[in-house]
Amino acid sequence: MATLLRTLTADITTLDLDAIVNAANHTLLGGGGVDGAIHLAAGPGLLQACRGLGGCATGDAKLTAGYRLSARYVIHTVGPVWQGGTHGEAALLASCYRRSLELAAQHAVRSIAFPGISTGAYGFPVELAATIAVQTVDACLSAPGSVDQVVFCCYKTADQHIYEKLLHALRA
Ligand code: APR
Repeated sequence: MATLLRTLTADITTLDLDAIVNAANHTLLGGGGVDGAIHLAAGPGLLQACRGLGGCATGDAKLTAGYRLSARYVIHTVGPVWQGGTHGEAALLASCYRRSLELAAQHAVRSIAFPGISTGAYGFPVELAATIAVQTVDACLSAPGSVDQVVFCCYKTADQHIYEKLLHALRA
């Protein structure tokens, strides 16, 4: 069955999906931005679980339960810090989406939401990041057992318009 790809503007912590993805840092011990919002909404159990994970490399992802969130799981991934584009940032960002979807498939996740990984504090240009996100997710969905629904959850409507254009082009 074809996977539904869609985009919306919302606080990702409010989404009632099987999994939401956190744009974390390598310590996995919380931070600001979407990381801070997810930990605040999930409660202290999430930080407790993250303490046992031993951190996460850039481009990798690790899964925990969602605790007080509606989402059953949180998939924590660490995006690259933008350094001008000549330090492998694009490949590392693609890896965040790929590894997150691999974990989703391993845990029978049917619906997942991604924030704009690396496009906040880590300074990745939104248009390029969204292009990498849509292309990587689309390429991964042919794998067996992949998810039924992927939501690109934006925090600004301007970002949502960028994803809408990319998704429209994908369907053209
Ligand atoms: N829901 C959805 N998207 C959100 C939310 C939210 N509640 N809060 C912020 N965002 C958006 C931002 O607008 C941005 O587009 O998430 C995107 C990612 O921004 P950051 O959260 O700053 O993440 P990132 O750029 O990957 O930087 C990660 O910031 O918070 C720290 O611990 C984190 O060190 C890590 C770094």
